[in-house]
Amino acid sequence: MNACIRAVVRGAIYYGVEVYGIRHGYDGMIRGEVFQMQSYSVSNIIQKGGTILKSARSKEFMTKEGRAKAYEQLQKLGIEGIVAIGGNGTFTGALVFFEEYEIPTVGAPGTIDNDLYGTDHTIGYDTAVNTALDAIDKIRDTADSHDRIFFIEVMGRDSGYIAIQSGIAGGAELVMVPETFTPFEEVIDTLREGWSRSKSSSIIVVAEGEEGGAAEVGTKIKQLFPQADIRITNLGHVQRGGAPTAFDRILASRLGLGALEGLINGQKNVMAGLINNQLVYTPFVDTIRKSKPISDDLIRMVKILSI
Ligand code: F6P
Repeated sequence: MNACIRAVVRGAIYYGVEVYGIRHGYDGMIRGEVFQMQSYSVSNIIQKGGTILKSARSKEFMTKEGRAKAYEQLQKLGIEGIVAIGGNGTFTGALVFFEEYEIPTVGAPGTIDNDLYGTDHTIGYDTAVNTALDAIDKIRDTADSHDRIFFIEVMGRDSGYIAIQSGIAGGAELVMVPETFTPFEEVIDTLREGWSRSKSSSIIVVAEGEEGGAAEVGTKIKQLFPQADIRITNLGHVQRGGAPTAFDRILASRLGLGALEGLINGQKNVMAGLINNQLVYTPFVDTIRKSKPISDDLIRMVKILSI
C-alpha cells in the first residue's frame, strides 16, 4: 500500500494537483486527520509493508451523521476527489458518499486475499503468497525429516487464492479452499495413495475460509487416520507484513498512478485494476457485486502434480 500512496502523491505533484493524506481511513476523514503531503512525505516508504496512513475500517462512516462530518472536513480544505485503497467495504462507502455529496472516488484494490473483481492481482497478494511459500518450504524440511503430515492454514477469509498459489508453488499434496468442497474421504485417499507410493511426508494447505480451518480439518483427520504423525500450523498475520515483493511494488505504483490519472481525467466510482497487464477501470458496483472465481484448472493441476 505504501508504494501505491507514493505513486498517488508523486503523480499529483507531477500534475500540479494539491494532495492530502487521510490518516485512519474514513474515521480520520470524519475527525479531520487530513494533512497536506509533499514529495518527501513518501520518501523511503516503497520498501515498507503496511501503510503509513494507517487506514482501517470505520463504523461511523456507515452512518449518515458520520459522512456529514467527513464532508465538512473535506469542504474546509477544498478537497474535490479521493483515491481510496481498499476493498468492497471501502468502495461501498465511497459510493454512498458520492450519492450524498458528489465527491468522486477512484479506488485501488488493496487486499492480500486477491478476491476483487476487476483486477488480476490485488495489492499485497503476491507478497502474502511469497511469505506463505517461504514458511511452507521451511515446514517441509521438518515434514520430510520426520515423515510427518502438515496441515498449514493460510489467510483468505472467503477466498482460496493465497492457498492455491502457495500450495502449487510449495508442491502441496492437497489444497483445500472455500470455493470447492473437499470431503474428508478425499483428504484420506490422497494421504493413503501417497503412502502407497512410498511418500513419507505430505503438506496440505488449508485456506482460512475452509470450514473449520486447518485446526478442525487436521484434528478430524488425526482421528480418522491415527497411524499418521500429524501437525497443524496456522501462519496467521505474518502474511500481512514484511517488505513487498518487486511485483507488488510495481503493481501498486501502476495502480496508484492509474487511479490518480483516472480521477484527474474525470473517472468516478471506479476501481483501477490490471487485467492482462492493461490498466482498466471497473465500476464499484461490479467490483462489489461480481466475484472472481479461482480457475478450476489450478485446482485440477494440484491433484495431477501431487501424485
Ligand atoms: O481481508 C484480508 C484478510 O487478510 C483475511 O484473509 C483475514 O481473514 C483478515 O484479513 C484478517 O483480518 P484482521 O487482521 O482484522 O483479523
